[in-house]
Amino acid sequence: MFKGIKYLALGAGILLLVMVSISTFVQSPAMGESSYSPVVITASFDSIMARMKAAKPEVTKRHMDLLSERYDLNNRPAAGEAMSRGKPIQEGVRVKPPQGMTWERLGAMSPEEIREKDLFPAGFFPLPHPNHPEGGMVFPKFHIDEVKKQEGRDLTRFDLDFDLPDHFLPEFPAPIYLTTRLDLGDVSKGKLLTIDNYYELFNGILNPKQIEGLRLLLTPFPQQQFNQTEDRRSERPSRGVTCFDCHANGHTNAATHTVGDIRPNEHRHRIDRLSQESRRQLQLLDDELYALWAQFKPGVRILMVSDSCHSGSVARLALSTPSTGPARAALADFEFVRFEPFAFLEGDDMVAVPVRLELVYKPNGRRIRDLEMHLWTFGPDGLVTAFRHLVDTHQFAQATRA
Ligand code: HEC
Repeated sequence: MFKGIKYLALGAGILLLVMVSISTFVQSPAMGESSYSPVVITASFDSIMARMKAAKPEVTKRHMDLLSERYDLNNRPAAGEAMSRGKPIQEGVRVKPPQGMTWERLGAMSPEEIREKDLFPAGFFPLPHPNHPEGGMVFPKFHIDEVKKQEGRDLTRFDLDFDLPDHFLPEFPAPIYLTTRLDLGDVSKGKLLTIDNYYELFNGILNPKQIEGLRLLLTPFPQQQFNQTEDRRSERPSRGVTCFDCHANGHTNAATHTVGDIRPNEHRHRIDRLSQESRRQLQLLDDELYALWAQFKPGVRILMVSDSCHSGSVARLALSTPSTGPARAALADFEFVRFEPFAFLEGDDMVAVPVRLELVYKPNGRRIRDLEMHLWTFGPDGLVTAFRHLVDTHQFAQATRA
C-alpha cells in the first residue's frame, strides 16, 4: 500500500517536472533565437577587443549603479565572527528597502499591497552577472594577481572586472584540511594551490591517483573567455582556465559566470561557488529526497530547489549563515522552554516527527522558536539505520553570534 502511494507521489512529482519543462520549452526560446552562439566569427580579434574595451566603462557603471541601488556594500565586519584564517565576516542586512520605505513599514504591509505598489526589494531578485548579456567567467583581482605571479597565466578580461568588494569574498587563499590527515592541519601552508606547487605540497600525503587527479584540476583548459581564438576575452591568446581557478584550494574565491544548463541566455542565473562545508548543510541526497516524497499525498504540489553541478540554484540560500565561524554553542548553553513532538508521520520504513521547539540561548537570552523535523529510518529488524535532524540553522547562528 505504502509502496503504491510512494510511486504515485513520485509519478506525480515527475509529471509535474515534465510539465514544467515542457511549458518552459514551449515558451522559449523566443522566435528567431537559437540555442547556439555563432561559431564562425567574421570580425577581427582587434576590432572586437577595441569595441568591447570602449564599452567597458559604461557596462561597469551600469552594473555598479545597480549594485549600489540594491545593496549596502560597505565594509562592516561582525565582531568576533571570522573565517578559518581570521578574515572577518560581514554583518547586517545588506539588501536595501525600496526608496523611501523602511523594513518596518514594509513588514506592516500585506503581500498583495507590496505587489500592487511594486515595493518588493530588488535586492532579493537574483544577482545579475557583472555583464549579464555577455556572461562568462570573471575572476576576482586577488586571484588573477596570484595566478599571474605563480604561473604567468593571465585571467584578466579586457571587457570586464569582477564586481563585489573583497570584504564580502571568502578569505584568500582558503586553508585546506584533509579528512584523511586531520593531524596535519592546514596543508596549504597559506599558499594558493597551483600547477607550480601542488607536487611539493602534496607529495607524501596523497596517494598517486589523488595527486594525478589534483594535477588535472590544476591544469588549464581552453574555454570560451580564455582560449586562442577571436572568441576570447583575454588580450593575449590564453592557455585557459583550471577547475581550481574557481574552486580555489578546493574552496571558493567567488569567481562567477552564468549557469550552463538554461536557455535562452537571459534566463541564466549568475552562479557562485560555496565552500564544501556550507553546501553540505543544505544538501539532501537523492535517496533522502525520494524518501521524503513518499510521505506526500498523491497530487501534492512539490516545489523543488534543484541543485546539480554548476546549476547555481541553491548557492545563495546559504549566504545568510556564517558557515565558517567557530561552532561556539554547546547544548548545555540552551534552556529548553518547549520541546513538543506533536505528530508521528509514518510510511514504509520511515517516521517523521515534527517538533515545536522553543529555546533560550543562556549567554545572551536570545530566543529561538522553530518547527524542527526529526526523520527516522528503520531497518528490517526495527532498529534505526538513519536519523536526520532538519533545523533552521540560520536562527541558531543569529541567536548564538556575539
Ligand atoms: C567559473 C568557475 C568554475 C569553474 C572553472 C569550475 N567550477 Fe565547478 N562549480 C562552480 C560553481 C559556481 C559551482 C556551484 C554550482 C551550484 O551551486 O549549483 C560548482 C560546483 C561544482 C561541483 C559540485 C560540488 C558540490 O558540492 O555539489 C563539482 C563536483 C565541480 N564544480 C567540479 C568542477 C570541475 C571538475 C571543474 C573543472 C573541470 C570545475 N568544477 C570548474 C564553478 C566553477
